[in-house]
Amino acid sequence: MTIKKAEKNEAKIIAQIHRKSINTGFLSTFGDRFLTKLYEFIISADYCVCYIYRQKDTPVGFICVSLDSKKMYNDFLKKNLNLAITVFLKNAFSVNRLTKIFDHLFYNKKKKELPAAELLSVAVIEDFKRKKIGSKLFDKAINYFKNNKINNFVITTGASNIESNEYFKKNKCQLIKRISIHKNQNSNIYTKTIK
Ligand SMILES: CC(C)(COP(=O)(O)OP(=O)(O)OC[C@H]1O[C@@H](n2cnc3c(N)ncnc32)[C@H](O)[C@@H]1OP(=O)(O)O)[C@@H](O)C(=O)NCCC(=O)NCCS
Repeated sequence: MTIKKAEKNEAKIIAQIHRKSINTGFLSTFGDRFLTKLYEFIISADYCVCYIYRQKDTPVGFICVSLDSKKMYNDFLKKNLNLAITVFLKNAFSVNRLTKIFDHLFYNKKKKELPAAELLSVAVIEDFKRKKIGSKLFDKAINYFKNNKINNFVITTGASNIESNEYFKKNKCQLIKRISIHKNQNSNIYTKTIK
């Protein structure tokens, strides 16, 4: 096994794992093209990182983190305004989808007093779960934060996502609040203190 920093040309495989694994998540609904662009941006930004876990050269999991997630989403939207407008227009006829987009845009306001650093996403493909791959990726993210003098970061996950909540608890993250980003869909906010 190897864990390596992702290259820009690996954004597509990360997007595919994301879509398959985090299928209840809001970002997954926008499709592979949007997700690939987002991950290309994250991989290229000097204040973010993605690591890929490979088993015999096959990517089976990844983790992505940012030193400043609010800046990351703002910079991404500025750089990809055309794509954002296309996604917006495609969803313009679905009140439900549009509500979700607006809810997400204002979600950062709900996190105002929380750390700027964030664990953006983590996923392991189905057949490789419960083998501590996720925890090894988590440790790698912790090292990245440590090297960047970050001692506290935030994580948001669906309140009904049992495996992710158990995983974050096992990795000593503290549940600090539950918010409703999307109507009828609660999210748990964790913080992790790095010692
Ligand atoms: C969350 C996820 C990344 C965990 O990856 P993983 O490699 O299976 O995790 P680990 O093997 O390191 O598990 C560590 C601990 O987490 C907890 N855990 C993980 N999956 C669990 C499950 N399905 N049920 C209960 N506890 C679970 C356990 O305490 C486990 O330790 P144990 O196996 O010794 O009991 C993986 O389940 C996943 O990809 N889920 C879908 C994507 C997702 O929801 N991501 C989070 C939102 S960004």
